Amino acid sequence: MTTYTVDRANRYIAEHKDQVNQTFKPEKHFSAEIGWINDPNGFVFFQGEYHLFYQFYPYGSFWGPMHWGHAKSKDLVIWEHLPVALAPDMPYDKDGCFSGSALVKDDTLWIMYTGNVVAEDGSVQQVQNMAYSKDGVAFTKIAENPVATGACLPDELIASDFRDPKLFEKDGRYYAVVAAKHKEDVGTVVLLGSEDLRKWEFESIFLKGLPGQGVMWECPDYFMLDGKDMIIVSPMRFERTKYNYRNLNSSVMIVGQVDWESKTFQAEEIRELDHGHDFYAPQSLQDEVGRRIIIAWIHSWGRNLPPHDLNHGWAGSMSLPRQLQYVDGTLVQKLLPESLEALEHLTLDSNVVSGYLEVSVTDSCHFRFGTDEDYITFGVDKEEGVVYIDRRGLRYQPIGEESWDMRRRAVEIDAHKLLVVLDKNSIEIFVNNGQESLTSAFYIEGSKQITQL
Ligand code: FRU
Repeated sequence: MTTYTVDRANRYIAEHKDQVNQTFKPEKHFSAEIGWINDPNGFVFFQGEYHLFYQFYPYGSFWGPMHWGHAKSKDLVIWEHLPVALAPDMPYDKDGCFSGSALVKDDTLWIMYTGNVVAEDGSVQQVQNMAYSKDGVAFTKIAENPVATGACLPDELIASDFRDPKLFEKDGRYYAVVAAKHKEDVGTVVLLGSEDLRKWEFESIFLKGLPGQGVMWECPDYFMLDGKDMIIVSPMRFERTKYNYRNLNSSVMIVGQVDWESKTFQAEEIRELDHGHDFYAPQSLQDEVGRRIIIAWIHSWGRNLPPHDLNHGWAGSMSLPRQLQYVDGTLVQKLLPESLEALEHLTLDSNVVSGYLEVSVTDSCHFRFGTDEDYITFGVDKEEGVVYIDRRGLRYQPIGEESWDMRRRAVEIDAHKLLVVLDKNSIEIFVNNGQESLTSAFYIEGSKQITQL
């Protein structure tokens, strides 16, 4: 059996990070120094700095036994890499420290995460564990782990799919929303509760999905936003419509109201959070000025990743952080002013590595980003009433498990303004001041141009 430890991971990173091929590595988006990343974890504001943890396999550009990578930032723009926070080194997390979250209590940074444990017969157990840190760098897993196992769940749920706790505090009590699969093949969010962050109990099935809304809801998040209760989940196989939920794995926002007597969430509206090819497992924090900010993984399960296929030694990046707002019954996602300030204002036909472009839309408009032989297109089709990102011109086609055409993704909206953020391997489009968004990855070599078609 291979033994994974935090020390071994840190040594490996220090010794091998210089071998990583930087060709597609983003300039302005977060990526790890080496290895594979997926979900953002433990996104939190602690002692004056933002901390971002992430699902991490340092030893290859593919998903392997999960560690928690770690970085921090003073401004959400420049990230400093920190030592690995968690390695799968205990019997209760031996096959992976899966996704989870963080919470600050007094002067301590707490983490709750899922331990993935595969038995010899192949059966899986997913349990919830706690760890803490005083300095925000070195973490101690508590002696009481695991603090919640599948045994606490009601019979209607499947204990082997019980993961991704997101912590929050309400009226002096601690809670975690956790994903659990329902025997009826729908996703659920369950609520666990605790007085002290060490001893946890099952509280309720907080929300149960409807048929068609996905067979498992990964990475739940719960918070209040501008007076409304909100849940974010990342459903697997949400039923697709002409334009929506076309990735096998989507991310969605559910707006509703919590009844704190019964500890249940009454859903009123569900919508796809982002309409691009790659925006998964978003997680939120609230910062010191009260902003609700999310960050997501710019990739999707079941797709090939060119930096892995080409042996570049890394795979996966994060979106730019976005502020969520709920204005007059509409969800709005906004790029942070500090992110925008750090980006170059782009114009057409310039050679571009990264930056942002503003488009005022009066009619259909179509743009190409890349080279003559290798490019994405994006823009507005007024006749169809959509904003789109099209990847069919790429040399390295990201191919997924979807059996339907995934080259173009689009969102139905009467667009009058686009804010387009371009980096070496991603595009994020915010439509009409953040009324809708589209995020997609691409892998184009060499210098790129933005051209209007
Ligand atoms: C979501 C997810 C989580 C899990 C993690 C494992 O992308 O599948 O449900 O905790 O990734 O890396």
